[in-house]
Amino acid sequence: MRWRSSGLSLFLLLSIFVLKSATELRICAYNVQKFDSAKASNERLMHYLKLVLTRCDISLLQHVVDPDGRAIEKLLSVLNRYEEYDYEAVASESLGNSPDDKQKYVFIYRMQTVNVTGQYQYRSQQSFVREPFVVRFQSKNASIGEFILVPLHSEPSKAVQEINKLYDVFVEVSKKWNNTNVMFLGDFHASCAYVKRSDRKNIRLFMKSEFSWLIRNREDTTVTDATSCAYDRIVVHGEPFLRAIKPFSAKVFDLGAEFKMSRSEVVQLSDHYPVEVVLKSSALFLQATPLLSLISASVILWSFLSAL
Ligand SMILES: *[C@@H]1O[C@H](CO)[C@@H](O)[C@H](O)[C@H]1NC(C)=O
Ligand SMILES: *[C@@H]1O[C@H](CO)[C@@H](O)[C@H](O)[C@H]1NC(C)=O
Ligand SMILES: *[C@@H]1O[C@H](CO)[C@@H](O)[C@H](O)[C@H]1NC(C)=O
Repeated sequence: MRWRSSGLSLFLLLSIFVLKSATELRICAYNVQKFDSAKASNERLMHYLKLVLTRCDISLLQHVVDPDGRAIEKLLSVLNRYEEYDYEAVASESLGNSPDDKQKYVFIYRMQTVNVTGQYQYRSQQSFVREPFVVRFQSKNASIGEFILVPLHSEPSKAVQEINKLYDVFVEVSKKWNNTNVMFLGDFHASCAYVKRSDRKNIRLFMKSEFSWLIRNREDTTVTDATSCAYDRIVVHGEPFLRAIKPFSAKVFDLGAEFKMSRSEVVQLSDHYPVEVVLKSSALFLQATPLLSLISASVILWSFLSAL
């Protein structure tokens, strides 16, 4: 009888232990506005960019102007200096119709927490100015396991058409890899003059209920006070992916406030803010405070002694 009641109190104590996620996965998307060798050699800006990117397990960079790859090489060497994680990059070729506006999509990722298990350059110049460079990631640390990231830096004047065409990319890559855990991310220009409320009926990602827009319309992803537009977005497909997202984790990251940067420093880095979302961890660990461990140890001892 005594054994039973002390067993019950032990159970109650254990159940108030804090259940805490061990290793969540943060995914970020940042239009770094003409990230080229000149920007990459600005030490002060690189210091801040490092602070931004080392928060994330995966970062999609857009508007990277880096034909010979030197700017990203420089960025990786900065990221990997005195850091607990190792960062690696996977990049598209330079994309775009006009020779003086060629841009790459670049994914920077932590080698300890994610693996790249596939990449695919979507081809359709009628559909996109900068066709999505699709990358499949796998992570033991995220509950979702394997997932597909589809980036888009849309051409502003074609934003409605290009966002709508993302559905065709979805159909193709989910079939190719037999995986519908697809996330779309980047500067879609999905707001203000480029995508009006009345345009939404022409965008399948808006109209089909299986897609969830995690960065809301009322958000402002632009740095300037002159505009308040949710250009940069994160959209996920399907219930399983939605359930793998940490609730309320999708947000615009205010680097100026976080890192005490001046407005001009923020603007020098980019006219956009990064957006981000957190994926839940694959494992839940019991994390006890030392006091709770002590109490539970004495309860175990006490119930052991009283059972004698
Ligand atoms: C990446 O893949 C390797 C080889 O399959 C595996 O050993 C490792 O655990 C994977 N890493 C993560 C973070 O999933
Ligand atoms: C990711 O998961 C692996 C195996 O589950 C673990 O060893 C590793 O510590 C995790 N990574 C991080 C950053 O916690
Ligand atoms: C596709 O994935 C589903 C589960 O995600 C699995 O049941 C099915 O066998 C897979 N099909 C192929 C052709 O691999």
